Amino acid sequence: MKKRFTRRTFLASGCAGLAATGMSTVTATGPAALSRPAARTVSNDEMPALLGGQPMRKESFPAWPVTGEEEERRLLEALRSRRWNRHGGSMVDRFEGIWAERLGAKYSLATSSGTSALVAALNALDIGPGDEVIVPPYTFVATINVVLLQHALPVFVDTDRETSQIDAQKIDAAITKRTRAVLPVHLGGSVADMDQILSVAKKRNLPVVEDACQSHLAEWRGHKVGTLGSMGCFSLQASKNLNSGEGGAVVSNDDSLIELCRSFHNQGRAAANSNMTYARNGDNRRMTEFQAAILLAQLTRLEAQSKTREENARYLSAQISEIPGVSPARMYPGVTRNAYHLYMFRYDPAGFSGLTREKFLKALRAEGIPASGGYTPLNKEQFLLNALQSRAYKYIYSEKDLRDLADRNASLPQNDLLCQEAVWLTQSMLLGERTDMDQIAGAIRKIHKHAARLVAS
Ligand SMILES: Cc1ncc(COP(=O)(O)O)c(C=O)c1O
Repeated sequence: MKKRFTRRTFLASGCAGLAATGMSTVTATGPAALSRPAARTVSNDEMPALLGGQPMRKESFPAWPVTGEEEERRLLEALRSRRWNRHGGSMVDRFEGIWAERLGAKYSLATSSGTSALVAALNALDIGPGDEVIVPPYTFVATINVVLLQHALPVFVDTDRETSQIDAQKIDAAITKRTRAVLPVHLGGSVADMDQILSVAKKRNLPVVEDACQSHLAEWRGHKVGTLGSMGCFSLQASKNLNSGEGGAVVSNDDSLIELCRSFHNQGRAAANSNMTYARNGDNRRMTEFQAAILLAQLTRLEAQSKTREENARYLSAQISEIPGVSPARMYPGVTRNAYHLYMFRYDPAGFSGLTREKFLKALRAEGIPASGGYTPLNKEQFLLNALQSRAYKYIYSEKDLRDLADRNASLPQNDLLCQEAVWLTQSMLLGERTDMDQIAGAIRKIHKHAARLVAS
């Protein structure tokens, strides 16, 4: 059976490294310590690997996650403490303190996942049946699922194809009297147009919940993302730039909102402990001490890793921007730091003698460069149509309401185009040497040079 290279398997390949190529696992502390074979001389004179030539790259990219003695020490500390839950331990508290400080936020609340962080934030805002939430269609499904979990209505705003972010200029027109929040995503480590989003939200008196699940340490005009809206939500899941396998965090400068999140994530308890007094209904979305132990260690690596990603991404963009048919994702002028959870570019077959994106991706993988085509249009997903036709939704909303929403969400032409032209590389591919970037660019150039042959093959 043909193996599909889905977004999840692609991101997983970034996590596990390309074990199949026989490279040893990286256990040292950073790119300088990576010992890999010297890069092959980059040449695009050879035939593409797909047509029998030598692949541009035979060795794997840096393995993800990077782990070492610090992780082992902290994990053992958590284990031996016999305090495995945040109520008895201190590691989750410590992680929250450091994360808030790193971001310049007043508060940080650790959660069991990024999805949990978003659920807690929507609960704190009391978003529920009858409410509309503005969301981008170009995102991981969790952004939409959390709105559906509240039995609220996700209202999509089309994508700005050049940046892969929500088109903030179109948000105002999507707001109705039912709109209760704007939920922009900082996609791929870059940042949505926060000037425009905050200005519209202020004018309409709406809270902004930043889905910063992919953008650890990214900045808008010098301020860390997650701190710009009412609340910001991070994922600490395995593929993320800061990870503990699973995990998440809400950050906020608002005392009452963070208290509502804290209470919600701790079964509605009034205080951050395990007593039996409940201020409201809630859920268990708590982080374990083991997750926090790994995070405390991973935090010591994050800044250096982020710098390496940025430097390599900048270098790669300079190289591939010159290739006709390849356009690296543009950043808004307000982006002062990109976290590069993904390296994203748009691919135009017209620059490659009509070579389809699917064949381009196949050729790139054959050159030893793992790449994926990214998201599919969420607004057209059957699961979403089913959810909106479920018993609960039919109970809450009139047929007309649901039909109107379907009409509003039906046409997102820019997003459709982006879903056809996007190409993604994972963040861990940016953690190595500059020669790795030369090989990525070299592989694309080689495919470009022989595109007509590839089309004919
Ligand atoms: C944009 C976005 N939002 C939300 C999530 C959900 O995070 P988690 O997988 O930690 O629940 C993710 C994770 O992939 C994400 O990329």
